[in-house]
Amino acid sequence: MINKIAIIGGGNIGGALVHEIATRRLARNVALVDVKPPDFAKGKCLDIAEGSPTFGVDVNLEGSKTYSVIKGADFVINTAGVPRTMRPDGTFPSREELLATNLKITDMVAAGIKKYAPNSFVISIANPLDAIVYRLYKKLRFRKNKIMGMAGVLDSGRYKYFVAKEAKVSVENVEAVVLGGHGDTMVPIRSACRIYGLPVEQFVDKKALAAIEKRTRTAGGEVVKLLGSGSAFVSPAISALEMVEAIAYDKRKIVPVCALLNGEYGVKGLFVGVPAILGKKGIEQIVPIKLTAAEKKSFRNSINAVKKTAAEVDKYKG
Ligand code: LAC
Repeated sequence: MINKIAIIGGGNIGGALVHEIATRRLARNVALVDVKPPDFAKGKCLDIAEGSPTFGVDVNLEGSKTYSVIKGADFVINTAGVPRTMRPDGTFPSREELLATNLKITDMVAAGIKKYAPNSFVISIANPLDAIVYRLYKKLRFRKNKIMGMAGVLDSGRYKYFVAKEAKVSVENVEAVVLGGHGDTMVPIRSACRIYGLPVEQFVDKKALAAIEKRTRTAGGEVVKLLGSGSAFVSPAISALEMVEAIAYDKRKIVPVCALLNGEYGVKGLFVGVPAILGKKGIEQIVPIKLTAAEKKSFRNSINAVKKTAAEVDKYKG
């Protein structure tokens, strides 16, 4: 059991995280920080704590407006920032359009982590994903194996789900991975998609696969549109916990994570979604995939999008 997990941001994803950590008995102590008045984080934790006798779990849940509550956390999961949400005219912003607002919040998050949990593993979910984790890294100067973004597990989960439905097989039979940035340029890797170890094309025709891959790239927006307010939250929360469990239990599980690359996949100095072995040291190894020419092209296109938001982060003085 983990001693302490801290969640920054008590919105939909943060709330789902606290609930899920408690029901899974994943940590003895859970801290939640949210600046929202009058004392939102405290209220959220009290609500879940009052359910704990019913789901039969002894867990200490502590919510606060101040960062001191995260002191000594083994893991910090960052969800702080505004989500994408529908405008009255029915349109909604891209993840990248959230950058200016969420960068300010990110700098406060970084200061809190630096002060109270400098040895933690940091998993960031806030959007724009790749840019926010890049900012956190720049501010924290953590060892790069301990700081990462959660996007690939979610995006690959969406890809797997759509493939399973189309092939009419269990979601458990589908292996799939999505690489690159967590924006609409993300790259579902068809050549690595398998059903029961067999090429996906044996079960799903090329036309349907192309439609599934298109849907995967914009799946976050599809949920935004349907919800009407806010963005997906259960699937992002449980995706982050897949990463926490891989590290805490030293599983050496291969999962797609947003990692700082140093030449792997031809990328240097950027946080990008790639498969990695997660174990007790965090990111223990980046796993290469041999991409087709078309996949390589799409990957480079996605890297360019990530580069663009990273350049905006570099310009931001705070
Ligand atoms: C999504 C958000 C959380 O993809 O980025 O749903």
